[in-house]
Amino acid sequence: MYRYDDFDRTFVAERARQFRGQVARRLEGGLTEEQFKPLRLQNGLYLQLHAYMLRVAIPYGVLSARQLSQLAMIARTWDRSFGHFTTRQNIQFNWTKLEDAPAIIDALADVEMHAIQTSGNCIRNVTADPYAGVAADEIEDPRVWAEVLRQWSSIHPEFTFLPRKFKVAITGAAEDRAAILFHDIGLKIVKGPEGETGFRVYVGGGQGRTPYVGLEIATFLPRDRLLSYLEAIMRVYNLHGRRDNIYKARIKILVNALGLDEFRRQVEAEWATLDRPSIDLPAEEFTRIAAYFKPALLKAASAKDADLDARRHSDTAFDRWVRNNVVTHRQPGYKIVNISLKEPGKIPGDASADQMDAVADLARRFGHDEIRVTYQQNLVLPTVASRDLAAVYDGLVAAGLATANTELITDIIACPGLDYCNLANARAIPIAQEIARKFADPVVVQSIGPLRLNISGCINACGHHHAGNIGILGVDKKGTEHYQITLGGSPKDDAAIGDIVGPSFTAEHVPGAIETIVATYFELRRDSAETFLVAYRRLGKAPFRDALYGTGAKPAATAALENADV
Ligand code: HEM
Ligand code: SF4
Repeated sequence: MYRYDDFDRTFVAERARQFRGQVARRLEGGLTEEQFKPLRLQNGLYLQLHAYMLRVAIPYGVLSARQLSQLAMIARTWDRSFGHFTTRQNIQFNWTKLEDAPAIIDALADVEMHAIQTSGNCIRNVTADPYAGVAADEIEDPRVWAEVLRQWSSIHPEFTFLPRKFKVAITGAAEDRAAILFHDIGLKIVKGPEGETGFRVYVGGGQGRTPYVGLEIATFLPRDRLLSYLEAIMRVYNLHGRRDNIYKARIKILVNALGLDEFRRQVEAEWATLDRPSIDLPAEEFTRIAAYFKPALLKAASAKDADLDARRHSDTAFDRWVRNNVVTHRQPGYKIVNISLKEPGKIPGDASADQMDAVADLARRFGHDEIRVTYQQNLVLPTVASRDLAAVYDGLVAAGLATANTELITDIIACPGLDYCNLANARAIPIAQEIARKFADPVVVQSIGPLRLNISGCINACGHHHAGNIGILGVDKKGTEHYQITLGGSPKDDAAIGDIVGPSFTAEHVPGAIETIVATYFELRRDSAETFLVAYRRLGKAPFRDALYGTGAKPAATAALENADV
């Protein structure tokens, strides 16, 4: 993994020192909260409903065991012994005390981490495929490019005061696991006609109150031109993005106002004026950075393991976990292990300090010292030998982290909602907990198959509800919390924005409504191979709407789920 050089180390230490001084001035009354605000936000310190919250970047979702242990130490020492992993590969500490923030920033710097550019109208933490470097379907490791982009976009004066925040995601695999089509810029590494790699570039994706799926601005950008092309996009956005209206300031609004062709024309005109050699990355620099990401030298291991097979035969829970959470690795004999932070009844994306320590320990013993954070708010051990799967599973069971629900209905994405956020209309966490409790039976959950359920507490869409196969949005209706349900969204290559199914529900009716939707799918799907999303695309929303709001259909559909032959 990437290691800081002297420049990085000095820069982060200097920032920590400055921040300590700023906090001291605030505490002594030398700065008002208003004067302090831009300073704290540049170091990821937000003010939420009840306390400050510190958002820490986990660049492209990669953590060493040492870093995760340090996050556990921070949670235990200065927070309430937990952290919240977000969809954008950050961790948030929800109960930070202002006087402790400098010590936390110092503790982060000790392990080459920081909270810079996790807030504000700048280029935020660049996110990537959590299976980067180990995925069986990968063309090229996107972490190298994510690191290149991190260096290019960090404290770049021209990108520090953009019209609005800016999010970039990158994948090098066939399957999109980073929701690139819902980012301001999405990058996919693809092969060109001669077999060389380059980038397919998408622009203008995003959610919030005006959701858009990203549009393809370049089909194949040569790899050595990436930085100058992105710089041209940023310049056009910086010049013409709407600064007069915060709701219209994201690049998606500009792209859609101009139309893709005109936006592309302006980008290419700008690109032609740039001194590309001074911006594009020299090949030697790429080689230098790539060296940090050389794959670990893995011992040859047999893909077949008699002990593993025997355990799977005798232990159905273990077998279910292997089927659900364990994924093919590019090297035979090794596996990618998904660690669920979604035990039914718990807060989605939260991990306790003890759980973080347990995962760090498993990474040290069985996982080549590495952990990843996912878009789905879970963790991953990217490289585990098949023969160690049982030991890893036992460790996860002991830590309460072995729920076998990767990408199933209880693997819910949820924002903090009204429990923490001062922008919220409604609670998101308790709704997620209630729904997960309804679907606590692992056999039923597995029989439902892949189904993404996402919840946001307001239209800002931090919980990516638009991209959920089932989306739930908290709305305020005459002072009471209501929830609008959408169906058919997807964050993947077939990205789509969900359709509103009908009038909103009160909190107490939401879990039942989700049951009705699932039961309707269960009754109408062609067979168990037809996923919820595929069935929805075939059926449209009418049968779901009828089951939810009509009479008659609901009991039959619910009965279908209850009597399911699973
Ligand atoms: C409680 C503190 C938070 C605040 C005040 C906050 C605020 C916001 C706001 C105002 C936006 C909309 C920006 C726009 O459309 O221009 C936004 C977007 C977003 N937030 Fe948050 N957020 C918070 C926490 C989170 C968390 C915990 C997550 C992840 C679980 C998250 C993930 C996102 C994502 C992915 C978007 C982009 C949605 C899009 O594509 O437009 N945020 N946030
Ligand atoms: S979606 Fe709304 S309620 Fe949820 S975290 Fe974002 S701003 Fe807060």
